[in-house]
Amino acid sequence: MASALWCTCGIAGAQSGSRKGQPLASPLSSLERRISGPAPQLQQKVEACTKRYRVSGRQILRVQAGSVPAPTSYLSELQETAAYISKRGRGILASDESNATTGKRLAGIGAENTETNRRDWRELLYTAPGLGQYISGAIMFEETLYQSCADGTPFVDVLRKQGIVPGIKVDTGLSVLPGTDGETATQGLDNLGARCAEYYKQGARFAKWRAVLKIGEGCPSSMAILENAHGLARYAQISQENGLVPIVEPEVTLGPGDYGIEETAYWSERVYSHVFRLLNEYDIALDGILLKPNMCLPGLDAPNASPKEVARWTVQTMQRTVPAAVPGIHFLSGGMSEEEATLNLQALQEECPNSPWSLTFSYGRALQSATLKTWGGKAENKDAAQDILVKLAKANSEAQQGKFQGPHPAPGGERILQALRFGGAGKS
Ligand code: 13P
Repeated sequence: MASALWCTCGIAGAQSGSRKGQPLASPLSSLERRISGPAPQLQQKVEACTKRYRVSGRQILRVQAGSVPAPTSYLSELQETAAYISKRGRGILASDESNATTGKRLAGIGAENTETNRRDWRELLYTAPGLGQYISGAIMFEETLYQSCADGTPFVDVLRKQGIVPGIKVDTGLSVLPGTDGETATQGLDNLGARCAEYYKQGARFAKWRAVLKIGEGCPSSMAILENAHGLARYAQISQENGLVPIVEPEVTLGPGDYGIEETAYWSERVYSHVFRLLNEYDIALDGILLKPNMCLPGLDAPNASPKEVARWTVQTMQRTVPAAVPGIHFLSGGMSEEEATLNLQALQEECPNSPWSLTFSYGRALQSATLKTWGGKAENKDAAQDILVKLAKANSEAQQGKFQGPHPAPGGERILQALRFGGAGKS
């Protein structure tokens, strides 16, 4: 009788029934690779902490939870950082717009796109009094990671003092996949290891890589799903190897079209299941990553969905695709209005009160739009702008705990649809 290997711990997937007469190959693929892989010490370590025994003629390999050697020497630090950032009641401030995109935002308030203005804007965000009560991580663009306040205090230190972990966007933008209807692959794998090592030295402890998939005629294509899942997995591997918690961001983007919410849920489920398949193939430590997905929303030309409906489809999608080992699911705001982003976040908690992962936020536009308008590039408005930022962060912190009662600090349902990236493919 052919012997079959069964894994009885959570490392390589849940125990499942065997195909007739065949060993159970697929759930064990990651473990098998580790046992029979090229490094003999690794094999000895695994064997030293396993116990073999037979049941009804089958050989069972029992692996104690936590006994497989770490894929990276940073494992415990990655786990701690991910757990810290995803702690309930807090979320991420996404402030990693490129210089070109920041320039467009500054132009909207009549300010020039100079390094000083970009610095002043980020200084306003990071020095907002009390922000760290509600924000656990801030994602920065490379220029910002190395910048300091006007008084010379490095941004990294300002953030740490607030209890906010500094993070860095490491992708370098999108490029069009040939033969597709404008679908994209994300750039930035070349030299990524060396860049991550430098960012770690500068104080970053997590990273972000954004993959974008759009819904439309024939989209997302299998090619786009596969390419983007691969890019995210390779990035996550390199990032963990260098001590940065990877935020894995597969964004099924809100776009034109009258498709319904169930279609977004369908495509999101397909995309995330491919992403986790590849993350497992690449031996990513799932308790050392954070996921940054979209909420499920209908197309821009379809009637909008209520928070309850958004929550029902979104939670179903997460439950079907995201392993419980992932500590935090940090949703992007993706064009939702500030109030909509808060109300939908609150509805997620009501839909899934005992979620294994923290269902929380990593908002860019939904934290920054009203703040930027209030500031208007004028020093005398700085306090008022910081006040609204902290109120928005607090509202989302309360919504994360299912406790938001309103009124919202930036009420209204108007979508915030400025593009996240300007300049087209290849530019970030
Ligand atoms: P939004 O919340 O504005 O969608 O931005 C989040 C983000 O960082 C997307 O990459």
